[in-house]
Amino acid sequence: MIDFRRLPMPLVFPTDFVWGAATSAHQVEGNNVHSDWWHFEQTGGTVLEKSGRACDHYHRFREDFDLARSFHHNAHRLSLEWSRIEPTAGSWEESALRHYEEVLTALQERGLRPFVTLHHFTLPHWLAVQGGFSTDRAPDHFARFVEHVAKRLGPLVDTWSTFNEPTVSSYSGYWFGSFAPGLTERRLGFRALRNMLVAHGTAFGILKSVDEAKPVGLVHTVDRKRPWRSWSEEDRAEAAFQDHIWNEAVFQALATGVIALPDWPAEERPELAGTLDYWGINFYRDSYCTAQTPSVPPALPEEYQSHMAWGFTPEGLYDMLRRAARFGKPLYVTENGIATADDRERIWYLAQHLAIVHKAWRESIPIRGYFHWSLLDNYEWGSFEETFGLVHVDRDTMRRTPKPSARFYADLIRTNTLSLDLLKGYLGNWSPIFGELK
Ligand code: FCB
Repeated sequence: MIDFRRLPMPLVFPTDFVWGAATSAHQVEGNNVHSDWWHFEQTGGTVLEKSGRACDHYHRFREDFDLARSFHHNAHRLSLEWSRIEPTAGSWEESALRHYEEVLTALQERGLRPFVTLHHFTLPHWLAVQGGFSTDRAPDHFARFVEHVAKRLGPLVDTWSTFNEPTVSSYSGYWFGSFAPGLTERRLGFRALRNMLVAHGTAFGILKSVDEAKPVGLVHTVDRKRPWRSWSEEDRAEAAFQDHIWNEAVFQALATGVIALPDWPAEERPELAGTLDYWGINFYRDSYCTAQTPSVPPALPEEYQSHMAWGFTPEGLYDMLRRAARFGKPLYVTENGIATADDRERIWYLAQHLAIVHKAWRESIPIRGYFHWSLLDNYEWGSFEETFGLVHVDRDTMRRTPKPSARFYADLIRTNTLSLDLLKGYLGNWSPIFGELK
């Protein structure tokens, strides 16, 4: 936790800072019937609820972007739904392409720079039944999709990212079975990650050949892997292993061209080295590792925990931004947020993490922007229970209601400043750990 009283308040952000919120297609659009996730939900995948209409953003995107605009955001992070665009192998759905043209135009018209992700967890069902990213053919399928959309939609895109969280996508989808396509083999998890990294490299080349000037990055989720029992050598070894497979392997692959993952021989792919213009960094909280119960992540020990039992560990974001900065590329925080029913916690969380972002900037870490996860309460990969949104969505009426956190963030962006007065204006003297703010 950061004690604001020890910071050089107020914190003034650079004038050209990129501010926004992030969403992903499957989580907000609704009726995403050609995707592997839709199929997973209908066929007994490990979900509590189905996505159904989600937030009906497919029809309400203009209203949602009006809200983002009214919150003074100057950018918006979203993903294109591959399964809508290519519902059967090699055939392009014109109405979906036209839809995304309208979506991207609507963003441009509102002064929201579109940061567009090409793969955010979902696949076309036809590709998932062939083994999805666990097969070495997947990068070719992805390349064909990328080329098609880059030519068609590229002029409306501000900044590309190829993959969202390739580690989460691969391990959850192919090793733990908790995400579509629901496979449960560790070595397939690592193969899927290898194939996503290869596909990223190819996609980078394609996007650059279509428009050399447009920035292309990859969104990597990172967190400090800490030993549960700091005195235990076993736990420390487990934390080092987890750090490699979750954090470092992806950094290294794109920095050096060496893919080094367990269960497979290390591979040298020099063409991968340097294939990105920026790193997108997703950060939520630290995690704890123990050799005792490897499959059950232990709860955080001493830190304050939110309603959904997520801790506040903003210092972890600082450490991870420093690590990412080693590679000399600009950084964006592309996701950061908290699932909570108590919106004061969201305000506190936002302020804490933005204080860290500011500290990173003060120390010349090349951080260029921040996207809060998420604009809307949405489908959290299995249920609607975990509410990360700045905006509440009524599940029956689909009515949108901005939460105080949306206004807090809007005021911060409008003034480009995080001050104690602003925080107190929203939280009074409430703070989750220090009690009274003086
Ligand atoms: C990230 C995902 C995003 C959302 C948040 C809470 O891992 O990228 O879609 O589910 O977690």
